[in-house]
Amino acid sequence: MDKIIITGGKKLQGEVVISGSKNATLPIQVATLLTDAECTLLNVPRLRDINTMNDVLRAIGMEIKEKNDNYVFRTKGKLKNMAPYDLVKTMRASVLVVGPLLARLGEAKVALPGGCAIGLRPINIHLDGFRKLGAKVEIKEGYVTLKTKKLVGNRMTLDFPSVGATENLMMAAVLAGGKTVIENAAREPEIVDLADFLNTLGAQVSGAGTRVITIKGVKELGGGTHTVIPDRIETGTFMVASAITGGDIRIKNGRLDHLAALVEKLKATGIEIEESAGDILVDGSPKLKSLEVETRPYPGFPTDMQAQVMSLMCITPEDSIFTETIFENRFMHVGELQRMGAEIVLKGHSALVKGVKYLSGAPVMATDLRASAALILAGLVARGKTEISRIYHLDRGYERIEVKLEKLGAKIKRIK
Ligand code: UD1
Repeated sequence: MDKIIITGGKKLQGEVVISGSKNATLPIQVATLLTDAECTLLNVPRLRDINTMNDVLRAIGMEIKEKNDNYVFRTKGKLKNMAPYDLVKTMRASVLVVGPLLARLGEAKVALPGGCAIGLRPINIHLDGFRKLGAKVEIKEGYVTLKTKKLVGNRMTLDFPSVGATENLMMAAVLAGGKTVIENAAREPEIVDLADFLNTLGAQVSGAGTRVITIKGVKELGGGTHTVIPDRIETGTFMVASAITGGDIRIKNGRLDHLAALVEKLKATGIEIEESAGDILVDGSPKLKSLEVETRPYPGFPTDMQAQVMSLMCITPEDSIFTETIFENRFMHVGELQRMGAEIVLKGHSALVKGVKYLSGAPVMATDLRASAALILAGLVARGKTEISRIYHLDRGYERIEVKLEKLGAKIKRIK
């Protein structure tokens, strides 16, 4: 298994280009199941999760071609109604195929994803919504089977603004009869990007990005070309990389308007962030102030940035506090940061971080995607050498992060 080795202490300087958003691409890939016409996606990141989703779609009957760094999707013959366990267990987002399959075939059989490193992550909100659209749901032998004669639009209020449930239900509703209203919908930028893609194909989705999404069902969708939004979590991770090393970097192709809650916190800790000619400039400050961070659904502070900002707070002089409200087990990075000399006390859903003068390099283990990023950030500033194993987590969601960091002046390498 590959490892990443970092020798800390280099200030980052220069330019970095942000890739397309992983979490926006995944549902959009799935949404190509909704049409027989050709769809082209631009700005797709080169990531393991994207390849896994392509494998799921190929198993269902899509033909996917790479053309000049872009992806072209087309259905090939009759679609299968099923996503098998060996694919679903490697990536929970595969459960998003339920919406389109139900809409197109009236039937979907998908393996239940089960738990993962950061929490239980059930799909009850997805299933409640499909029932409201007229599907019968049965759970048997590890699979959930949904059947309907015809999906019919309805009004529903989600128990929690789940990102995946909002996406899944939106995709089902675009081909349902009549009008669907999703209240308490997730408002993440990735939801807006999916709605934009669906509308490009001829769907009638309005209100994406607000609490209430309205979808008027149409008979069929056509094809189209869509450029995926930049990855806001990759952007945020590079902002913290600049800050933690006291560096000064220019981020290209990022969207500051998707990161308001993070930017507010980073500015409060003393980091200068500004926009110039469409780029984001991040100037790390040597004197950081402590923070109080509570993760919330968008537009609140993203849970996907909690681990990285915690690494930053490990070396601020005062105490900081992090409260995780989205996932029940998202402090796996704490034990590894402690191995590097961080002082962190866990109490229920909160972590009290007592700033230390310095972190020291150590062999550590990545436990999930964003935890891996937090360890890389800690390694960039730690004294000596940090060796991170199990970095396959990292390859799921960060495109060539070690190459991008090396270009900014970090002493980092991947070894086989
Ligand atoms: C998406 C993101 C992930 C991010 C998360 C929260 C993708 C591929 N992944 O995950 O990176 O961390 O949003 O911003 O876009 N829940 C239920 N029942 C459900 C659905 C969700 O209880 O039916 C709970 C989950 O267990 C979790 C919370 O709701 O505690 C948020 O989950 P959700 O918003 O659905 O996250 P994902 O779509 O899985």
